[in-house]
Order: sequence, then structure tokens, then C-alpha cells
Amino acid sequence: MQKLTVPILPPGPTAEWWGLNHLAAMRPNYLGYVEELQRQHSDIAHLQVLNEHIFHVFNPDWVREILITQSTALIRWERATEVFSHSMGQGVLVTEGAQWERQRRMLQPGFTPKRVAGYAKLMTDAARTAFSKLVKPKNDPNVDIETLMTGITLDVIMGVLFGNQQVQDSRSVANAIQTLSQFAVSQLFKPFPWPMWTPVPAVLNARRAIKELNQLIDHHINVTPEPDQASEKSLLTMLQQARDPNHPSEGLCGQELHDQIMVTFQAGHETSATALTWWCGLIAQHPDVAARIHDEVTEVLQGQDPTPETLAQLPWLQASLKEALRLYPPAALLFTRRACQNIKAGPWTIPKGSLIAITPYVIQRDLRWFDAPDEFRPERFMDSIEIPRGAWMPFGVGPRVCVGQHFAMLEMGLIAAMLVQRYRLAWPDDATWPKTNLGVTLRPAAPMTLDITPR
Ligand code: HEM
Repeated sequence: MQKLTVPILPPGPTAEWWGLNHLAAMRPNYLGYVEELQRQHSDIAHLQVLNEHIFHVFNPDWVREILITQSTALIRWERATEVFSHSMGQGVLVTEGAQWERQRRMLQPGFTPKRVAGYAKLMTDAARTAFSKLVKPKNDPNVDIETLMTGITLDVIMGVLFGNQQVQDSRSVANAIQTLSQFAVSQLFKPFPWPMWTPVPAVLNARRAIKELNQLIDHHINVTPEPDQASEKSLLTMLQQARDPNHPSEGLCGQELHDQIMVTFQAGHETSATALTWWCGLIAQHPDVAARIHDEVTEVLQGQDPTPETLAQLPWLQASLKEALRLYPPAALLFTRRACQNIKAGPWTIPKGSLIAITPYVIQRDLRWFDAPDEFRPERFMDSIEIPRGAWMPFGVGPRVCVGQHFAMLEMGLIAAMLVQRYRLAWPDDATWPKTNLGVTLRPAAPMTLDITPR
């Protein structure tokens, strides 16, 4: 008779009430809970909630081993894909297997470094327009940075997707996205999430937000000129013309096209806006770093707009952005994965059927890889200093790495350089550093208002 071997599980906190104690502890401060798990258990922790076995992996090498080497044995947690599919349909962020591979193949050419460099002018135009409208009321010298950055990144993503179009009501669109983001996260932490037909305020608000975004996307798909009339090639035009390299007669159409546009729209601006918001706060708090960046920007740009080429000559600016992404990764946790096979994590075996949680926010603040991990020290990212592979992973790793990472780094670099060229940022005397609010992105829990003075 064949002997069954049951893998020994790594240690973790004890389950009470079928593990509902873990859910209760996570809900008020998920990231604090996971940080504590890491402090107690170092590389990996196991916990059980109801019938789910959840493995938190913190060792960067093991994370890479899981997400790169064993990626084909993983799918995304079904609860998460269901929650996100309400607003993203069957877009590339939520699909799996052959359907995901096909969508990713068709989307990828729109995001190569070369293609993305072609969006640079659109990005600098959006920033210049927003800065030129930046009039501060006399009785309040402070500016809500997140609103400013969201406006710019919304204009950028609309321009990239549909040609040069500005969002009519960017506040309302941003609110709709934030409503969905909060709703999604609250659904993830409930033992039993609300079905979408439930007439409770949270669901009704989410449904309203989905409707608003669908209308916006449909409107723009319908008014955007036919591909052959489009003056500049938008991402929509590219996707309409894209053919699957493995099946050249097949393209994206109808709902599938709508869903890819929706995913790109949602994934492609709140993340960058949030990262820029934290970066502005950190720069305002560290005038010494701001001065170095300003000197560098002044010397290299000589008053001109930044370009992809000149950005590459601004190491302090780049390092400060990477450091902001380390301390406040907009995607603070990756999609939880389901193991479809036994998975190796260092010396441990994660059994088939388990959930695997990977939290860049915690991995990137691990004292083992970063001295004084809670401090803002951009010099960590200057050339001579080695960061262990996988210890900095704001864009994820493996085949499902962020498709927009070059886009995001370029966009953030251009906007940040233009801001520093024009303004001095200061943290108001009476302001305190905001707590974090974990939605789909990690945003400041209170508005971050900074004093912005023209140079
Ligand atoms: C600072 C900005 C950004 C950050 C930190 C970020 C982060 C991430 C992360 C961590 C993932 C992988 C999630 C996982 O493995 O569970 C991801 C996926 C994705 N991101 Fe981004 N992202 C950013 C900007 C963008 C932009 C600008 C776009 C598009 C214009 C974009 C589009 C996507 C898409 C489509 C996916 C899904 C890829 C797939 O599953 O194949 N992201 N992003």
C-alpha cells in the first residue's frame, strides 16, 4: 500500500473559533497584522481561516521561486477575481490560463519601453496644463496633492487610451474608482461577501460606480475615430487592430475590448497618482533630498521639459521615486494566489489547494534587507548599493508582473521632474503624517495637503 506523506506545515498563529480570530485581528489593520506575522515568523507563516490554509511568504528568494519558477501551478484567489470582475469583466487582470495569455500577448506591445516613450509628450502636456491651472486660494496656501496628481494621471490615461481627450468630471470618476476600491477590499475580508444583488448601501454604491465607469468607457470607445482616421495611434486603436500573434485571424472585439480598456483605465492611473502623492509628502518632509533633486533637475534639464532620455540622467529623482515605492507600494499586497499543485517555498511544501499571500509592503520594510527600513533614504537605490533581488517588488514579479511598469516609471518621473522644476514643497507646520488606508491601492487615510510655492 502507498504511504501518504502529509507535509509538515510552517508555524503560525493559533486558530480560535475556526480561525475567525485571525479575520477579526486583520480587519482593522491588515498591514499591521501581516507585519507582526513577519516579525514573529520571519520567512513564512501559516494560518487557517475556516477551511482555508493561508501561507504568508516573506523571504524574497522564495517569493521569486513561487511567482516565477512555479507560476504555472498558481491561479488568483477566486474570491478576488470574482470581486474585481464586477468592474473589470474578463480583463487581463482577472483572467487565467489560455485566455490570460492571449490577452497579455495582445496588450504587451502597447507597453514596451519604446512604445511607452511615445507617450512622454502627452504626459508632460498633461502635467504642464495641470500646473498652469494651479491657483491657490489666498486664505489657504495648501494644495490637496492627491487631487492634483489624480487629475494629471487621469488625463494621461485618457489621452493614451483614446487620443487627446480630457476627463470632463475627473473628481466624479476618481470618486467612483475609490468607491470600488474600498468595496473590493471590504468584500475580501468578509467571511461571506455581499452578493451584487443585495440592496445594501455598499453594494448599491458599487453598482452606481461600475455603471458610471462603463458609461465613460463606452462613450469614449464610441466617439473615438475609426482606426484609419485616428491622427495619433491611441491604445484603443492599437487594441482594435491587434491580432493574436499565435492566431493571426483573431483580434479583440466587443466586450473583450471594453474589458481590457476598463482594466487599463482602472489599473493605470490610481496607482501612479497614489505613488506620486506619497513621493510628494516624503519630498516635502525631506528638504535635503528635495534640494539634491532640484539641483540635478536644474543642471540636466536647463529649463526644458524632461524626456525619457533626460530622465535617465536624473539618478536622485529616480532613486527617490523607487524609495517612495518601497515605503508606500500602491499595490501593498499582491493578488492572493491559489496553489493548484504542491508548491516549494525554500525548505517547506505548501500543499495543493492552499492560498499564498505576498505583501510587498511588509517585504520591503524587512530589517534584514533594509537598514532603518521605515526611513526615507533614496541613497539606497544609488548604483553602488545592492538591494537583494525580490526585496523591492512594487510591480510584482513573474509572468503576471505589472504590464504598465515602464509606463508608470516614465509617467512618475516626468511629472515629478516638472513639479520640482516649478515648485518648492513644504509640509505645513500643523500637519501630521497621514495613516495609510488600504484599498486596492494604499492611499493616505486623510487628504495630504502640502504648501506648494513657485520657485
Ligand atoms: C506605480 C504604479 C503601478 C504599480 C505600483 C503597479 C503595480 C502592479 C502590480 C503589483 C501588479 C501585479 C499584481 C499581482 O501580481 O498580483 C500589477 C498588474 C497590472 N498592472 Fe500595474 N501598477 C502600476 C501602474 C500600472 C499602469 C500605469 C498600468 C497601465 C497603464 C498598469 C496595468 C496593470 C495591468 C494590466 C496588470 C495586470 C497584469 C496581468 O495580470 O497580466 N499598472 N500592477
